[in-house]
Amino acid sequence: MNVNDAVLTRLTVREYKPDAVQDDVVHRLLEAGRLSPSSQNLQPWHFIVIRDAATIKQLGEMATQGPFLGDAPLAIAVVTDDTPRAPLDAGRAIQQMELVAWEEGMGTCFIGIRDADQNAAIKEVLGIPAHLVLLTILPFGYRKSANMGKFGRRNRRNMAEVAHSERFGNTYTPSI
Ligand SMILES: Cc1cc2nc3c(=O)[nH]c(=O)nc-3n(C[C@H](O)[C@H](O)[C@H](O)COP(=O)(O)O)c2cc1C
Repeated sequence: MNVNDAVLTRLTVREYKPDAVQDDVVHRLLEAGRLSPSSQNLQPWHFIVIRDAATIKQLGEMATQGPFLGDAPLAIAVVTDDTPRAPLDAGRAIQQMELVAWEEGMGTCFIGIRDADQNAAIKEVLGIPAHLVLLTILPFGYRKSANMGKFGRRNRRNMAEVAHSERFGNTYTPSI
């Protein structure tokens, strides 16, 4: 699968096969994150690999925005330094991990953990130091079917709404 195919076909995946994710695949996911670009090359991220089924189940019970996490065979928590650019940097790392997972026949979902109490409780479970930021826990697993999107990538704003030509407000008209 080339990058464009991955970009065109990727969907958020919220249902996973129980099949274990082998070490070499986990390594490729981590490399996709670790090698991402970041502002000033600060690389303000940590990735916690979680394979223990009991811990994943517990996290699924805690993460109200993504209870399906509890059924994934693998989860990777993304933790950052508390700096202004860190969410942007981590977002790029996460996207790279998503695309590599997709190529592997897997899927994931960004699970937001915005509730302060919930976030603190999960940090406690994972032993994350208080001064660091828990951004998301990404469940990973092999895709169950071809149609996993809850909202679906086809549900997007039209090109004409988001693309402008030369100056804001001028409709971009592709010549293809
Ligand atoms: C920053 C961010 C936060 C998200 N938070 C959640 C979430 O908490 N729970 C969830 O089920 N999906 C979450 N999503 C997934 C989006 O709902 C999904 O990407 C969007 O609906 C488009 O669908 P697609 O990824 O299949 O194209 C999040 C995505 C992003 C980028």
